[in-house]
Amino acid sequence: MEFAMQPKTILVTGGAGFIGSNFVLQWLANETAGVVNLDKLTYAGNPANLAAVSSDPRYKFVQGDICDRELVAELLIRQRPRAIVHFAAETHVDRSIHGPDDFVRTNINGTFSLLEEARSYWTGLEGGEKDAFRFLHVSTDEVYGSLGTTDPAFSESTRYSPNSPYSASKAASDHLVRAYFHTYGLPVLTTNCSNNYGPFQFPEKLIPLVILHAITGKPIPVYGDGQNVRDWLFVADHCEAIRTVLARGRIGETYNIGGRNEVKNLDVVNTICAALDQLRPRDPVVPHSKLVKFVQDRPGHDRRYAMNTDKIESELGWRPQETFETGIRKTVEWYLDNDPWIQGVISGSYRQWMATQYSL
Ligand code: NAD
Ligand code: DAU
Repeated sequence: MEFAMQPKTILVTGGAGFIGSNFVLQWLANETAGVVNLDKLTYAGNPANLAAVSSDPRYKFVQGDICDRELVAELLIRQRPRAIVHFAAETHVDRSIHGPDDFVRTNINGTFSLLEEARSYWTGLEGGEKDAFRFLHVSTDEVYGSLGTTDPAFSESTRYSPNSPYSASKAASDHLVRAYFHTYGLPVLTTNCSNNYGPFQFPEKLIPLVILHAITGKPIPVYGDGQNVRDWLFVADHCEAIRTVLARGRIGETYNIGGRNEVKNLDVVNTICAALDQLRPRDPVVPHSKLVKFVQDRPGHDRRYAMNTDKIESELGWRPQETFETGIRKTVEWYLDNDPWIQGVISGSYRQWMATQYSL
């Protein structure tokens, strides 16, 4: 292949985290272009997620902070990516309640730094390279706030109404991305997705936490009355949606992504417990649901999220492939089959977090 014909690389931020690593693996399995992964490796970043591609010549890892503008500028000049897919963020709502500083720093200031350097790089591009460039910002449904039981699902025109330091910081970053399109013409795309689950999710989040506690006979903490509703999407479906928006999304637009799959937290927990009753009948406590323990509610806990995904479905033809039943089964089996990965992430800092949040 001639040099000029080589597909150009993309720059991914936060590619060592849960969704980012699933995205990098899916990208390299399906696309010819390479990936440069810029990740600070916070507690949530784990190079082991990307062990399968570590020797792929199309994959390059750079440890660094998106707030480091010199590093970002140099990376852009050196790698000349045709797109930036921006995952890097602080993402755990409970941590944002205990300590919001890092959320403001990475999610707001970090996105700002990235936008500034992307703008400078893009301004210097010419012709086809300039036309093809995209900045895809990965965001969340939590920016829209909380729904009542009978409210219609969030659409792309729902008013922003964030309730936690995490969602407020993501909302701020979404607004900055929007402003860089309207003010400078930077070719941006924003995706707002619902709750993901699947392989490589750090076990501070509900689904992996329930699996780990259930198989080791530890109490399964359910906040409040367990009736809060989330829309769940298998992570590979989210990654497919991002690739679709990157390829065909309209510049300046936002796209909601979700599974049309609303489930109450207690039902999520009971589904996992029922799967484990079949797969692990000899665990310390069976049925596993005996471990459910209602604990103090999360402050400001959003009651319900639901996503209207008509736009991405009708405009871009994306639809999720997994149902909650198939996705949760795959997820439970993945955690059961990957004990070395689990042992690798249950480090000292993880234990410290569990003690702070749950007194466990
Ligand atoms: P994660 O917490 O698993 O991973 C975040 C990654 O970002 C880690 O690898 C971490 O090391 C890296 N990072 C953090 N701060 C950084 C910095 N300053 N510079 C460089 N790298 C940094 O997150 P996730 O769950 O994979 O979420 C990825 C993105 O998707 C986030 O922007 C999040 O808001 C969004 N999102 C997540 C969900 C979900 O359910 N997990 C749903 C919708 C949207
Ligand atoms: O909606 C998208 C968002 O989903 C993403 O933007 C966030 O980055 C991601 O962390 C996730 O946020 P949630 O707060 O919804 O996810 P979490 O797994 O922390 O909690 C899911 C639900 O389960 C929520 O209602 C709180 C509840 N929960 C959570 C934990 C950790 C419990 O009942 N017990 C728990 O121990």
